[in-house]
Amino acid sequence: MKKNLIDFIDISKSYGDNLVLDKFNLTVKENEFVTLLGPSGCGKTTTLRLLGGFETPDEGKILFDGANITDLPANQRKLNTVFQKYSLFPHMTIGENIAFGLKISKKSSSYIKDKIKYALKLVNLDGFENRSVDSLSGGQQQRIAIARAIVNEPKVLLLDEPLGALDLKLRRSMQYELIRLKNELGITFVYVTHDQEEALTMSDQIVVMNQGYIQQIGSPEDIYNEPENAFVADFIGSSNILNGTMIRDCLVSVLGVEIPCVDEGFGNNTPVDVVIRPEDIVITSPENGFMEGDIISNIFKGVHYEIEILANGYTWLIHTTKNADVGAHVGINVDPFDIQIMKKAEHSDEKAVNIDDKI
Ligand SMILES: Nc1ncnc2c1ncn2[C@@H]1O[C@H](COP(=O)(O)OP(=O)(O)OP(=O)(O)O)[C@@H](O)[C@H]1O
Ligand SMILES: [Mg+2]
Repeated sequence: MKKNLIDFIDISKSYGDNLVLDKFNLTVKENEFVTLLGPSGCGKTTTLRLLGGFETPDEGKILFDGANITDLPANQRKLNTVFQKYSLFPHMTIGENIAFGLKISKKSSSYIKDKIKYALKLVNLDGFENRSVDSLSGGQQQRIAIARAIVNEPKVLLLDEPLGALDLKLRRSMQYELIRLKNELGITFVYVTHDQEEALTMSDQIVVMNQGYIQQIGSPEDIYNEPENAFVADFIGSSNILNGTMIRDCLVSVLGVEIPCVDEGFGNNTPVDVVIRPEDIVITSPENGFMEGDIISNIFKGVHYEIEILANGYTWLIHTTKNADVGAHVGINVDPFDIQIMKKAEHSDEKAVNIDDKI
């Protein structure tokens, strides 16, 4: 059982009238890769800044290894932060930038030289020691910012959208490098991204946030397969999200059609959100579907076709490897196991239920 390394306990933070975090609770375990994921302005950077010691909460406390660090200055926390806007020292060379933290902690010059070499190799910028910051592209500067954080061997790395400026190929290879670092050096990561695919690829735990509330905490599989509410389902990949009525256990009504499902315990005639992933819908002949409609668009996406079908007044999104003709009249079908039923949120920023059970 991994031990708790970081605990946010009932943290609240406002800027003026803007309540950014409201009784935020989160536990990060040692050597875990935890990703904060959510729309712009939901409080991800604020959460990292509170953890890094660059902001003070209005209420609540933060524990590190069980000790209260809420009022500890940033430089005394065993954390290293790579900010959303990476801040290299413009008057220093790349090598000097990377060496900065090591010089402060009085490491020997041979140690520092080796570390610079190692870090540059890691971020694919071998031989860049003597280049100036100005001579690097945005993506290269971002990789140097990561290298600079890594050489200090912190217990925890806080990364705020660190791969945002990189092209897809480099982004993928940096994702693998970061995972390797986690496994080799036993570093704990608290990572911020907008990119749900990146979150699913890299994380042990994903924290889905919206307007300062945690909507769900779970493994990538949990979050993708068992989203707790329509917000999470929508944010993690495009989905068909419909208003429905749970008629009784294992039977739900959507768009005037009753469909078998596997969910129980919602009561009878209860309004619910019904979520069906685009890849779980099968296009079939009109008489074999639970609903029939017309294909209104079809776009080839490389691995799959993205097809829209207008049926009972709703435009269904379908991902399939089988091609189909626009204009065709078809049926749509779905396995009862692939229909997800969710309790309706009372407001869009409602706190996900049972957060305490999850952490
Ligand atoms: N120093 C500050 N002064 C006033 N308001 C702030 C400050 N920092 C953040 N905010 C506000 O707090 C809210 C949360 O900001 P935060 O930077 O944490 O969002 P974010 O989730 O990181 O968004 P993004 O994905 O766009 O980076 C926003 O409404 C922002 O305008
Ligand atoms: Mg941010």
